[in-house]
Amino acid sequence: EKGGHEYFMLKEIEEQPDALANTLRGHFSDGRIVLDEQRLSDQDLRDVDKVFVIACGSAYHSGLVAKYAIEHWTRLPVEVELASEFRYRDPVLDRDTLVVAVSQSGETADTLEAVRHAREQKARVLAVCNTNGAQIPRESDAVLYTHAGPEIGVASTKAFLAQIAANYLVGLALAQARGTKYPDEVAREFAELEAAPAAVQKVLSTVDQVRDLGRRIADSRAVLFLGRHVGFPVALEGALKLKELAYMHAEGFAAGELKHGPIALIEDGLPVVVVMPSPKGRAVLHAKLVSNISEIQARGARTIVIAEEGDETVRPFADELVEIPAVPTLLQPLVSTVPLQVLAAEIAKTRGYDVDKPRNLAKSVTVE
Ligand code: F6R
Repeated sequence: EKGGHEYFMLKEIEEQPDALANTLRGHFSDGRIVLDEQRLSDQDLRDVDKVFVIACGSAYHSGLVAKYAIEHWTRLPVEVELASEFRYRDPVLDRDTLVVAVSQSGETADTLEAVRHAREQKARVLAVCNTNGAQIPRESDAVLYTHAGPEIGVASTKAFLAQIAANYLVGLALAQARGTKYPDEVAREFAELEAAPAAVQKVLSTVDQVRDLGRRIADSRAVLFLGRHVGFPVALEGALKLKELAYMHAEGFAAGELKHGPIALIEDGLPVVVVMPSPKGRAVLHAKLVSNISEIQARGARTIVIAEEGDETVRPFADELVEIPAVPTLLQPLVSTVPLQVLAAEIAKTRGYDVDKPRNLAKSVTVE
């Protein structure tokens, strides 16, 4: 059942190309993005003047990634918020607010309560969910299902990638309804998304390299993760995976914040994982990150660099270099997250922990 794998999580990591392809399937026809179980009309989508993405844990990180895409495509303001915070403040909501509730299980207590609060305030709620007929989609105005298949490992992997893809579909549907993207642009963005499963398949060829790396750094006290732009939420997700699986202190930072505090943490031998943007697609940010890496390396950090293949400028500063395929910037999180998942799982295994059942955690958090 683990398909010859030592742990389910590795099997689920390898299922990610399928999870993405299945999530995208059927959502583009007759030249248009189509969402499923749509109880929101085109007019409702056109009227949207603000988007909230609410979720917990990895699902929240999928929202942070999607903010870059949705704002870029739709010119709508997007706020991404932890459900447990959203529901206890007094967010400004009305019938032109679209609340996207992202949940693999569809049963997360805080996300469900946030949905209820949003609906009481007359906001439109669209659930992005991996579980058919779960409570959150039942109480939402519309639902877009991720088709990652059941996730057995407690730590989210394929559901996370599928959530990013689904959130992007929501963004494209909004752009289409609002006319902020021409139909041919929407079609081109969708075609790029459809190429993501092949890119993720390609990055799986780094699994052995990253497992070996994981075994070598498994006795570290802490690991830091740095990224910028869409690489920032990837850094947060990498750190979360490591905390929950390997019980290690791990933190993700926006690389631009380094000088505002985190650089004080750098000490000899500390592994720092850096998610590099594309040297071509994001040259300015790339240069800034190269400078960050050289600074932390000079202070003794052991730099683990996730970079686009052929990125030669970064090589001198990388104690370990993991190469990922070149993809458009908004798709990079789908490939750059994969090595971070593998790294966390392998460190956990090397430390003797149950990768699929980390201590103190449950797959579905139905209590607060
Ligand atoms: C992390 C993880 C959790 C979940 C979170 C939300 O690996 O699995 O952080 O992402 O508990 O769960 P859902 O998506 O079911 O609402």
